[in-house]
Amino acid sequence: MQQPVIDVRGLRKDFRNGVAAIDGLDIQIEAGGRVHGFLGPNGAGKTTTIRCLLGLIRPSAGDVKLFGVDVASNLPSIIGRIGALVETPKFFPNFSGRKNLQMLADVVGVRSVAIDEALDTVGLSDRSGDKFGTYSLGMKQRLAIAATLLKDPELIILDEPANGLDPAGIVEIRQLIRSLGSSGRTVFVSSHQLGEVQQTCDEVMIISKGRLIRQGPVSEMVSLGASNKQIVTVRDPAQAIRILNDAGFNVQPVPEPETVHVEIPAARADEITKALAAHQVFLSGMRPAEASLESVFLELTEGQGEL
Ligand SMILES: Nc1ncnc2c1ncn2[C@@H]1O[C@H](COP(=O)(O)OP(=O)(O)OP(=O)(O)O)[C@@H](O)[C@H]1O
Ligand SMILES: [Mg+2]
Repeated sequence: MQQPVIDVRGLRKDFRNGVAAIDGLDIQIEAGGRVHGFLGPNGAGKTTTIRCLLGLIRPSAGDVKLFGVDVASNLPSIIGRIGALVETPKFFPNFSGRKNLQMLADVVGVRSVAIDEALDTVGLSDRSGDKFGTYSLGMKQRLAIAATLLKDPELIILDEPANGLDPAGIVEIRQLIRSLGSSGRTVFVSSHQLGEVQQTCDEVMIISKGRLIRQGPVSEMVSLGASNKQIVTVRDPAQAIRILNDAGFNVQPVPEPETVHVEIPAARADEITKALAAHQVFLSGMRPAEASLESVFLELTEGQGEL
């Protein structure tokens, strides 16, 4: 069997202040060009896990292996195969993007051609001669990702790469991450932005309070969230809510005009029609609420931390 690229068993991290940031986490990720989302609310333990993966902090318990190698004892032997972005690297504002990368390339000992390739991959070739200080936030973040590519890594670990970016910047990063996956690299990317994971990743792990809550293909997660909620269009929502409540339905008023949300599986949606028609109320539309990772995420992490 193929060796997992990331193999974490029983990871725990208790900080000195008594915070149990990671509370027994297992992660197994196979090699191959897939994008793995690591999703969790703020404070769930994503950054702490990634710092343990990269040997930046020492786990309180558990084993962390990358490419089958124990990180605690043997990280130098595999570090060249990993590109990681945990905290935004410090670039020099008065040097160009290229010059900044050149200096990093000199440190890690890679050839200049790697710089051109990295700049090309992140779409910064045209602007590589401009000073870093003049870059937009999105460009700065793309340069940071370019820096992780210099060693042509097999595994790329990114901690919230789209954080703080505007919608256009988010789209750029999303496309970039997808292209990194399709280039055959294994990408492990954390996020608390559900839409991001849904649109970027093949697989997702959802964590909360340092524990794994759910794991699987994004498509599967989304079908989990194929909510039992119907969106019903009626002329008088207040009246419809009264009737449906009396008939024993769970109904949520929503701010949209002429709309109520009714909790019931799509297969039983005709019961809504019957209940309303019995009171001479006729709906003008009904559709299932859109399935989203967000609904799964909210359901699974409900009451488990701030979102
Ligand atoms: N150095 C530290 N000392 C003490 N507690 C810490 C330290 N680093 C993180 N924590 C705590 O560990 C928990 C997990 O934090 P972590 O930064 O890993 O969460 P996260 O999932 O990355 O959150 P975010 O989405 O906000 O980045 C939090 O309760 C945090 O306060
Ligand atoms: Mg974090």
